[in-house]
Amino acid sequence: MSCFLAGFADQCFEAEKIGLEAKLPRRYINKKFKNVVLCGMGGSAIGADLIRDYLKYEIKLPVSVNKDYRLADFVGKDTLLIALSYSGNTEETISAFRAALKKKAAVIALSSGGKLKRLSLKSRVPFVKIPAGFAPRCALGYLFFSCLVILSRCGVIKSKKKEIKKTVGLIRNMGCLMAPYVSVKDNEAKRIAGELYGRFVVIYGSTSTTEAAALRLRSQLAENSKSLSSVHLLPEMNHNEIVGWRHPGRLLKNFAAVFLIDEHDLKEIQKRIKISWKIIEKTGAKVIGIRSAGNSLLSRMFSLIYISDWISYYLAVLNGVNPTPVKMIDYLKKEIGRR
Ligand code: PA5
Repeated sequence: MSCFLAGFADQCFEAEKIGLEAKLPRRYINKKFKNVVLCGMGGSAIGADLIRDYLKYEIKLPVSVNKDYRLADFVGKDTLLIALSYSGNTEETISAFRAALKKKAAVIALSSGGKLKRLSLKSRVPFVKIPAGFAPRCALGYLFFSCLVILSRCGVIKSKKKEIKKTVGLIRNMGCLMAPYVSVKDNEAKRIAGELYGRFVVIYGSTSTTEAAALRLRSQLAENSKSLSSVHLLPEMNHNEIVGWRHPGRLLKNFAAVFLIDEHDLKEIQKRIKISWKIIEKTGAKVIGIRSAGNSLLSRMFSLIYISDWISYYLAVLNGVNPTPVKMIDYLKKEIGRR
């Protein structure tokens, strides 16, 4: 896991190249698509969540993430649909892929191989191969950046070359500050992991800015640190979950609330974070803020993703667990395949 984290900047850089070199049919370039659908599950879906958040205020087309067997009724011949599955064998994604073919959507498949590759070749769907040998969640760079470049090559968004370069540079710098050889007093990821250790973690992101990063932190705490946590978003959580910070009273001191904070959060959201922070602190729970870094939306999003990944790694170390295996997911897939 630490090797993946140390090599993440290089992975993102390589992914951009994969996206640029992917063979796309002419009929996909500058076609007047009406919507974009990204299909995937778990570690392969988080890249899609990030793309949806990243493009939200930039493109006119609706971008949706489909984490299901079926597709919404609006999907049709004017849809650009990218099926993302690291292994290429995830049944929900395969099922959505087949449904998209039936609906005559413009489909692209992205995986390291598996059934998705075989089906794509058989049905003459453009197939983009990413390197094998990673855990799906460790291939986020490949999944996100190659997909982003493909969207720009299809003419759905403008080129992100500059932003990608800056983001890769920021990740590289952050990697030096959070590496295992950096002592806890200078290492923010180690410090936060220490604060979360032994606590139930409640993660709060904000809709549109830090939503996908909040989801990623929850998934990484589960899969790497083998820790249960929950996630909710502002402003919505101010309209329900905040009331729940009362019971079970004695146990709340064993909770930690983590706010993901972005300087571009609306003023209203910043105010809500401050007030919510105070309310939660009064219960005896630990409250922590993680601020994004960098000067573009892409950099800020990836700064949160990257620190979250390191935190989950250090929490795994503190929990005395191996961050890589995900036995429960493997067991579930096997059982479902058998039935
Ligand atoms: O992290 C994991 O192993 C899972 O969340 C997988 O990503 C998920 O089960 C989907 O598999 P795949 O990414 O191979 O499509």
